[in-house]
Amino acid sequence: MKIGVFDSGIGGLSVVRAIKKELPDLEIIFKNDKHNLPYGSKTSDQLFNLSKPILESLVEEGCRVIVIACNTVSTNIIDDLRKVINVPLIAMEPMVKPASEMTKTNIIAICATPATLSSGRYNYLKEEYAKGVKVIEPDCSSWSSMIENNEIDHDNIKNLTNKVCEEGADVIVLGCTHYHWIEQEIIDIADGRAKIIQPEKPVIEQLKRVIERQT
Ligand code: DGL
Repeated sequence: MKIGVFDSGIGGLSVVRAIKKELPDLEIIFKNDKHNLPYGSKTSDQLFNLSKPILESLVEEGCRVIVIACNTVSTNIIDDLRKVINVPLIAMEPMVKPASEMTKTNIIAICATPATLSSGRYNYLKEEYAKGVKVIEPDCSSWSSMIENNEIDHDNIKNLTNKVCEEGADVIVLGCTHYHWIEQEIIDIADGRAKIIQPEKPVIEQLKRVIERQT
């Protein structure tokens, strides 16, 4: 079966890599929108107008399921996209619920783009699943461009990771697929003080279920 994966940039490639490892027989078409990155500073209208034609082209090219490998698009406009794109769309969003269940200090950190952090969906997840949990939202606004352009500011990553660990976070959520590329660096800096989680595995499980229904 042919599936599509979409992101603003190379964040989606980390998801493609994870899907290929688990489901090597799938044909995957990956599309990004590098030219308009970062999506994390865009409005919902802008995100919709940019994403829709790309998703339509994936459908035209025969994709029967599309993974939206972008937390920013998923948390802001997934409902609007589902109304206009006629194949199943699998969303990726920050793992607020699992992090809230895992934390022992009752403090978690969510690393995500500004547009994700201000979205209705993300704030719903916090209200619903992180009641009584302190949620730290460090400023990662430069990270997706920094990673996309391979201009990694190692000091910035180190300072930010140390800061959230020192504030007591014992779970750090990677709520932007670009950050998957620096996951190991964050794990090394956290050095056991915090668990680092991101949603590739559950998304692939969801993809398997959707594919099963399609065949
Ligand atoms: N990779 C995207 C995400 O998961 C957004 C990166 C960006 O373009 O700002 O949110």
